Order: sequence, then structure tokens, then C-alpha cells
Amino acid sequence: MRGDPLTRTGRMKDRRKLYVKSYGCQMNAYDSHRMADLLAPEGYVETGVPEGADLVILNTCHIREKAAEKVYSELGRLRVMKQEAARDGRRITVAVAGCVAQAEGAEIIRRAPVVDLVVGPQSYHRLPELLAREARRESGIVETAFPVEDKFGFLALPSKAATRARGVTAFVTVQEGCDKFCTFCVVPYTRGVEVSRPVGKILDEVQNLADAGVREITLIGQNVNAYHGEGPGGVWSLGRLLRRVAEIPGIVRLRYSTSHPCDVDDDLIAAHRDLPQLSPQLHLPVQSGSDRILDAMNRRHTRADYLRTIDRLRAARPDLALTSDFIVGFPGETEDDFSDTLSLVNDVGYSDSFSFKYSQRPGTPGATMTEQVPEEVKSERLARLQAAIKRHQAAFNARCVGCDFDVLMEKRGRDAGQLTGRSPYLQPVQVMAPQDLIGRMVSVTITGTIANSLFGVLADTPRIAAESRVAQSFAAVGA
Ligand code: 5AD
Ligand code: SF4
Repeated sequence: MRGDPLTRTGRMKDRRKLYVKSYGCQMNAYDSHRMADLLAPEGYVETGVPEGADLVILNTCHIREKAAEKVYSELGRLRVMKQEAARDGRRITVAVAGCVAQAEGAEIIRRAPVVDLVVGPQSYHRLPELLAREARRESGIVETAFPVEDKFGFLALPSKAATRARGVTAFVTVQEGCDKFCTFCVVPYTRGVEVSRPVGKILDEVQNLADAGVREITLIGQNVNAYHGEGPGGVWSLGRLLRRVAEIPGIVRLRYSTSHPCDVDDDLIAAHRDLPQLSPQLHLPVQSGSDRILDAMNRRHTRADYLRTIDRLRAARPDLALTSDFIVGFPGETEDDFSDTLSLVNDVGYSDSFSFKYSQRPGTPGATMTEQVPEEVKSERLARLQAAIKRHQAAFNARCVGCDFDVLMEKRGRDAGQLTGRSPYLQPVQVMAPQDLIGRMVSVTITGTIANSLFGVLADTPRIAAESRVAQSFAAVGA
């Protein structure tokens, strides 16, 4: 019955158009799909543009001030759209979901009356009921509690058609929330304490995706390697979960994100050694290279601890490439502290990284720390850091030329006859290849690189990576 527009009473529901706009992290992208799946049986059909939509959901991010402010500019545009639709006798419902909803609640409706309802990330399984209340013209609906019931128990698995439309890669949430309380971060407040989903539920979801043609799974969580879900025989670690997911036929590539350095355990390192499906690219955010700043950030590890963890991972998987997140201008950061960050970038040789200016977030300890760093100093440090990251990325990409990679073909490329896939290191790869290779892992010889993309030619007949060792010829690149 999933996706069926018939109601329980057998009446045909009106088809309505749903537009979901996702901001921020992978968890939000996943939640946006779950909201669409939840509303499909209610008669909502997803559209890619806000124009003509009956329901608009903004799935928001609160991690930095800029991300949160983007929502209000979008709400300004929606106000005009809603007024124009009303003149034509059409009603548009506007919902704000995600972490801004959680953090600001009713304040959003006060600031932007165009909003009809506000729903936090732990309550969106209640959307059908909230929309029914809204349809009865109840105004100012705000649902931001952390309900006792587990939202995952209420969420529908996507239909095969919906999964296919989303492509051959998919995220699966295995863990939510965070207990680490880094002093700059709102996540422990907006997403709550760390909760792991049971193994059985995750396996069902992955199986469902694999049956619909998904080939690459990324297990996601705010602190994914703190995973400790109930499974057969007791509590499972992320390493154990990865081993089990790798056994599901059809899943040729596995990733996980985002990890905390302190939660990299022996099991996880062994998974990198043993699982050919596990991508040799790991996002392991460090935030700063200075021990003084790491301490002020409450990261719970030193620079040396982080480097030791990387050494152990690389001993298990010599071709492992690393990426990280960095924050510049955390309160009290001196030029010396920042130099430590630059030198860490050079020591590790990241294949790519994200970097941000520190943003004061209400309610976090960092926001009230003295010695806030002036904006122009942050901007200048960010530019220097990004230049260093780019240099390493370019060197890494250049080392890929001449290598044979297993590339998962995802979609049509920019030019006619071209497909775009991803290398084991997440780089986009453009290849002249027939369309029926979409969804297949094929061997590609990398011939060149432009900006962040690689170009290549088909190396031999398609083969499934599970049958071969991923990126055999690449052991030297990650090191
Ligand atoms: N300011 C700037 N960057 C932040 N991040 C988290 N909180 C802040 C903040 N207050 C960054 C961290 C994190 C990534 C998801 O966002 O680098 O790893
Ligand atoms: Fe935020 Fe730190 Fe938790 Fe990551 S580990 S979500 S940065 S509090």
C-alpha cells in the first residue's frame, strides 16, 4: 500500500505537491527523504521546485549563524509566493523542520508569520497529524518535544520507485545525537543525547535499498562511530555493523560519517583492514591542530592522539585518504595556535577538507568565552587554511592520474555519451561510457584532472568490486 493515494477509507486522496528543501548535513538529506516517504501515502508527490507546491518544508540547519539566516531569506521569498498563490485562490502550507525549528521553536513564527508549522528533528513522524491540524486552520503549530516514542518506528520505508529516483547511493541513519559537548557545537542541544538504532532495523532498511538497486550505502550519525546498537547477542559496535552490512548482496561500497577521533576503536580499524567494500576515504574531523585550542573546544584528545589514530588506521589500510573539518578563530586562538593547524594539514596531507570561521552559537559555552577573535582575522586565517587544503587536494588528485580505480557509475555526465561516477576517494569521475553502466562498479584508468573532478577511460569490462580488491593499484596514494 506504500505510496498508494487511497486512504484507509478507500477514498482517493487529492494529489498534492510537496517541495522539501534541505540545508546542512547528510542527516538532514536523509530526514528530508524520510519526510517525503511519510507523506507519500497521504497523497503528496515530491517536486523539485517550490513553484506550484502545496506544501513546502524547509529542513533547516543551525550549525552556524549563516546557515540559520539562510532560512529567513528563503521564508521571505515564500511569503511573496504564498501571497500570489492566495490571490489565485490556492493555499500553500509552509513548514520549518530541522535544527532551527528545534532551537528557535515559536520564535520562527513570530519572526516569519508565513510559517504555518514548526517541527523538530525528533518529531517529524508526527507530520501527518500536524498537517491535519493545520488543514483545520489551527495556527502556530509548534512541535519540538523529544517524544518518548522512537520516530523510526513510525517512518515508512521508501517505495522501490522513490528509491530508484534517488539514485544508486543512499544514506542510512544508524545513530543520532551527541554526548561529546564540544564547546562550539549546538548539536547536543538540537539533536539531543546519543541514541543508536537497533541492528535489525538498519539491516532491513539496507536490504530494502539494495533490492531497489542501491549499490553504495553511507551509514550516518552525528557521532557515527559511537554507535552501540542492540543486535543479536548484545550491543554491536560500528565495526561489527559494517561487517554485517557488507554481507548484503548488491552493496559494493560502504562509507560512514561523521566520526569522532576518540571513538575509533580496534573493531573499526580491523573493519578497514578486512572489508574490501569499505571505502578507503575517511572523514575524521580534528577542528584544530593546537592542543590548547583542542582543550578549550573540549575535544578530549590531543594532536598527538589524533596522529596516532591515523597511523593505526593507515597501518590497517595503507591506501586510506583522510578528510577533516576545521574551525578557525575559535575564542583565544592565537597566530601560533593557527600555525599548528596549518602544520597539521601538512603533516596529514588531507585529500580534501571543510573549513569554517568560528560562529558563536547561542547556548554553547564558546559563545560566552572572552577573547572572541575579530572577524577580519578569522577571514584572513580561513583564506590561508583553504589555500593549504587546496594545495594538498591538487597534489592528491594529481597522484591519481595513471591509477586504475573502481568507479561506481551514478548518472549521466555533463557531455553527451559521458557518465559521472565516484572514485573510492569520493572524487567525481567523468568517463565516456554507455548508459547501462549506471549502477555498476567499473574499472577506470584515470587520465587527467580538472578542478575537483577526475577524467578517465574504461579500463576493462565491468566488474563488481566485491569480487575484486578495491583500488589495488593505489596503495601509495593515500599515504
Ligand atoms: N562555528 C563554526 N563551525 C562549526 N562547526 C560546528 N559548530 C561550529 C561553529 N559554532 C563545524 C565543525 C563541525 C562541522 C559539521 O561544522 O567543523 O565538524
Ligand atoms: Fe558537535 Fe562535537 Fe558532537 Fe561533533 S562531536 S556533533 S562537533 S558536539
